[in-house]
Amino acid sequence: MQLLRINHLGIAANGLDEAMARMAKLFGMTADHTEEVAEQKVKTAFFPVGQSTLEFLESTDPDGPIGKFLAKRGPGIHHVCFEVDDIDEAVATLLAKGVRMIDQAPRNGAHGCRVAFIHPAETGGVLMELSQGSTAAQLSGGTTCE
Ligand code: CO
Repeated sequence: MQLLRINHLGIAANGLDEAMARMAKLFGMTADHTEEVAEQKVKTAFFPVGQSTLEFLESTDPDGPIGKFLAKRGPGIHHVCFEVDDIDEAVATLLAKGVRMIDQAPRNGAHGCRVAFIHPAETGGVLMELSQGSTAAQLSGGTTCE
């Protein structure tokens, strides 16, 4: 298993409008993409930062994962995503070590990427996501996994 880079940081926000206004004020940045992921009960806004991305997450349902996180811990860093060279091998390796995984197998994420989350009980309280880009994204000169 090889970690290639920090693909993105996920940041839970009380609202995307507020988060986008803050990024504009602090850094003069605008989001390059926004998307609602109904299955995860979130709306997301992406800000590219060099080889990585900041992913802001707004909850659309208090019972969703971000809604629960906000209620418990308030806004702030929610997860860190590492890009790996081979996600099937990475998940198999972690499971073989007895590591508790939220995803027992890679699942489809945005943009044709495949992702899996490690349980935060295994990582000192940091929710870690692993991601492998789609071949199409890699061929076009870089992954767009978020
Ligand atoms: Co993510």
